[in-house]
Amino acid sequence: MTAILAIETSCDETAAAVVLDGRNIASSVVSSQVDLHARFGGVVPEVAGRAHIELLTPVVAEALERAGTTPAGLDAVAATLGPGLIGSLLVGVSAAKAYSLAWNVPFVGVNHMEGHLHAAFLEDPEMALPAVVLLVSGGHTMIVHMGSEGHYRLIGATIDDAAGEAFDKVARFLGLGYPGGPVIDKLATSGDPTAIAFPRGLRGQGYDFSFSGLKTSVVNYVRKNPDVDVADVAASFQAAVVDVLVEKARAAAADLDAKSICIGGGVAANSALRSSIAAAAAADGRACFLPSRAMCTDNAAMVGATAWYRLRTDGPTPLDAAADPNLAIRFDL
Ligand code: KG4
Ligand code: ZN
Repeated sequence: MTAILAIETSCDETAAAVVLDGRNIASSVVSSQVDLHARFGGVVPEVAGRAHIELLTPVVAEALERAGTTPAGLDAVAATLGPGLIGSLLVGVSAAKAYSLAWNVPFVGVNHMEGHLHAAFLEDPEMALPAVVLLVSGGHTMIVHMGSEGHYRLIGATIDDAAGEAFDKVARFLGLGYPGGPVIDKLATSGDPTAIAFPRGLRGQGYDFSFSGLKTSVVNYVRKNPDVDVADVAASFQAAVVDVLVEKARAAAADLDAKSICIGGGVAANSALRSSIAAAAAADGRACFLPSRAMCTDNAAMVGATAWYRLRTDGPTPLDAAADPNLAIRFDL
């Protein structure tokens, strides 16, 4: 059995987990800094980096304790190398390298987005492949063809804002606070998704996405109609995002004859997206895998799962590998 301690500090969650054989979560601790950043209306990089420094040691200690293990029981230490905020990444990467040296176990650097792609295997090790994975987070929006574990092809991506970024910007404009996704999700349940016909970016035009026109359209509409019901705006905006995400993922799955559709990233916690993509997959006779909300948002267990796979295929990561804010996934199909 291989026990990996994984660390995730790419943005505003300080997380550590112990993962066994890449599939079993012995512990997963996530300490959110959301309250620290909320009053600024978004993540402040300098504040995030400093908070990671304070939180990381106790979070790692808790992950080891909850897993009922000690450093002597570990076979490797992993950390997210990128993409993310450089000041935040550096905290987790430096700590993981120091642990690796002190405990004499290999270090494994992990791509955060590959972590999101791997998250599904933690909850559904038998997920039918090939799969189409819709990866929607605060920084990325992509459709990925997963041919087999660890082998991917990029099918489409956003040409401007990421889906989560659109949720956050619209929520901020509407004065709903940060992060925007969960607030809009909740507010939308009491609104009418057909109340306002917001534009569906790049509909019917391949697999790329565009959300900046939608954001502008929400701003213009609310300025012209200041008395509009905010719940209707939230529901109509969310419907415009979900419609294009689902339409494109569904078309890609049909094109590639994928056996299953899976979602990942923070926006995959969205209830309208979850029900809509599940209904589309069912109508098309494809399996649909919706990881739990905790597994969709940032966590270290997904980093541990990826590290286990990468350790077996690529071996340990050299200790001089640097944190990289723009680290790209290796697309090899
Ligand atoms: O994957 P993640 O936790 O961090 C990044 O790697 O970006 O994603 C965070 C994003 C934020 O933009 C947040 O507003 C969005 O995910 N999000 C949601 C929901 N929960 C989180 N968006 C829509 N509906 C939600 N329920
Ligand atoms: Zn993420």
